[in-house]
Amino acid sequence: MKKKGHRRGSPAAPLTDWGDVAKWYDQLVGEGGSEYHQHVVIPGVVRLLAPRGGMTVLDVACGQGVLCRILHRGGVKVTGVDSAAELLRLARMRSDASIEFIKADARDLAPLGERVFDSAACVLAVQNINPIRPVFAAVSRHLVEGGSLVIVMMHPCFRAPKTTSWGYDEQQRVQFRRVDKYLLPRKEPIVTHPGSAPDQYTWTFHRPIESYVKALRNEGLLIDAIEEWPSHKTSEAGPRAAAENTARKETPMFMALRARKISAAVVPAKREQETSHGRGVQGHQQDQV
Ligand SMILES: C[S@@+](CC[C@H](N)C(=O)[O-])C[C@H]1O[C@@H](n2cnc3c(N)ncnc32)[C@H](O)[C@@H]1O
Repeated sequence: MKKKGHRRGSPAAPLTDWGDVAKWYDQLVGEGGSEYHQHVVIPGVVRLLAPRGGMTVLDVACGQGVLCRILHRGGVKVTGVDSAAELLRLARMRSDASIEFIKADARDLAPLGERVFDSAACVLAVQNINPIRPVFAAVSRHLVEGGSLVIVMMHPCFRAPKTTSWGYDEQQRVQFRRVDKYLLPRKEPIVTHPGSAPDQYTWTFHRPIESYVKALRNEGLLIDAIEEWPSHKTSEAGPRAAAENTARKETPMFMALRARKISAAVVPAKREQETSHGRGVQGHQQDQV
């Protein structure tokens, strides 16, 4: 992935959008979503958003617009923002012309001007953006009081890339999830085509759950729902199928948070440190991302 420069009006850290892997991501997601979007993520997001006809929803880091299309079918007035121009081009190509797609860095959302929305969503993207405080500050500015932000991410405890993995205990015949690291924030490059294009990668930023709770609360967004969703898949055959199915059901793959914007008058004045343990994002490489 090419290194991207800082942009005027955006936070100091460079953009880590998915413009360079847009074609690959668009093929993976397609018109109606990847397998995980279809079976787990989108049904969960729609339930937490509880959309109604005429409601306005902002889809933050919308990618090629999969959630926007589904909400639009239910009569929602949806606006998608992403900082990857190529993903927005594909989003417009795949979607009804009445869905608005705007190029914006989720960390400032300046192109939205003074607009406010009834609700917002950020699906499988918050772990690709750093830092998160300005994302929540910007979303909060563009939400009506009482409006909700629904966030879905890979489960930070059990699904962090490279530091969590499946294992199998032969004696107990138990499949388990091994967690090597959890509490300290860090970043990892994820290569999209390990064999054929080792230079194509995206960044994943790991943070413990407390970082999300504190960063949201600092921006007047109070969590009123947390859900943990397992994979929908099942193993049919093989000597470990039963153990695999138990482990899949017991070990959530995704975590969803819903936070509601409270009145500015009751936002606590004292901001909390986002992590009580770490020293900010620990890097795989030394470059500041
Ligand atoms: C895994 S994709 C998810 C896209 C979409 N929400 C979905 O569910 O298919 C992560 C998205 O975050 C976007 N992104 C990363 N950093 C961003 C930023 N600072 N501002 C806006 N979008 C960003 C990427 O361009 C990419 O579209």
